[in-house]
Amino acid sequence: MAKKKVMALILSAALAVTALAGCGEAREGSANAAADASAAAESTEAGSDEGAAADESAAAGAGFEADATIGVSLPWLGTQNWKEAETMFTEQLTEAGFKPIVQAADQKVPQQQQQIESMIENGAKVIVVGPIDGTQLGSVLEKAKSSGVYVIGYDRLIENTEAVDGVVQFGSVRTGELQGQALLDGLKAQKGEGPYNVELFGGGPADPNAPNFFKGAMSVLQPEIDAGNIVIVSGQTDFTQCATEDWDNAKAQKRMDSLLAGNYSDKEIDGVLSPNDGIGRAIITACEDAGQPNPVVTGLDAENESVEWVWQGKQYCTVAKPTQDLVAKSIEIIKSLQEGSGMPATDVSTNNGKIDVPIYELDPVVVTKDNAKEVFANDPDRMALLK
Ligand code: BGC
Repeated sequence: MAKKKVMALILSAALAVTALAGCGEAREGSANAAADASAAAESTEAGSDEGAAADESAAAGAGFEADATIGVSLPWLGTQNWKEAETMFTEQLTEAGFKPIVQAADQKVPQQQQQIESMIENGAKVIVVGPIDGTQLGSVLEKAKSSGVYVIGYDRLIENTEAVDGVVQFGSVRTGELQGQALLDGLKAQKGEGPYNVELFGGGPADPNAPNFFKGAMSVLQPEIDAGNIVIVSGQTDFTQCATEDWDNAKAQKRMDSLLAGNYSDKEIDGVLSPNDGIGRAIITACEDAGQPNPVVTGLDAENESVEWVWQGKQYCTVAKPTQDLVAKSIEIIKSLQEGSGMPATDVSTNNGKIDVPIYELDPVVVTKDNAKEVFANDPDRMALLK
């Protein structure tokens, strides 16, 4: 049953990729080639574009054993999406015939570096990485590349290094735009005429997604702030002021407590931009504790508890970015590499400070009480929460 679903997902993803074939070949070639060049010549610089282009055909044909070791390095297990990824990668890589090593690093960069190091030592052919800090894995990933290992970023961009072949993720600026728009829609639907009193939260500043989520949201909210329709009562509108170190819900709750104590003793708060569900629930709890009426609060991940809160009207919305889709896409790429077909083509890329990284981008979806049943129609576990 689960396997069928995965196969269907892989098949439809494969069709989408076929439809895109031909776009972005140059970029794709150079990324593949980087991997293969490094595999072929340990001592040569893996990322050199010229060397890469020359080696491309050899690279695409190489492949590796069907029962190869595949490493998956996750940043932590503090939100539901990463726990789901841990389970799904372990089960689905095993089902696909590979030997998975799946590890999470508890938000500690040196621990993640060591785990990747040991995946290389254990002969992993591909390492899938959700970095704690997008900029801190350069040297260990360069070591992976020079051992001929493919490196795929998972959910988060890997920054400032040539040692990445591609990244599988939901559009991060797009996610933020959806959050900003949903906040605005919720305010209009639930809080009457503006101006609205609002506060802003961002995610962990080391995570490359967090500034992008914030940027996307502000592209929608800033014009409303400029027009006076939204008032940020605390005046805190910079990402650095609004970020939540390590995506730590307790820190977000503390910040919300002090924003309420310092700015809202004589006013109601109408809405709060939250970058994910855990932080959203912390914000809602702080408002409850302060005796505030329930503000419009956004989220991300469609975590079980937040799906229930959305259904009960306690959290206005979440954004679904299904882990099963990200994992299916990652495994599709791993199979392509195993068969010797190289990285699939994609027409999206992002500059990571060093190279244009091919991005395999999926679409996030806003979930409110109104569309929850539609969005989760094929997700029996979440459907069961809508009662
Ligand atoms: C992920 C979110 C997650 C957050 C904290 C982000 O990079 O995209 O899904 O909530 O990290 O774990």
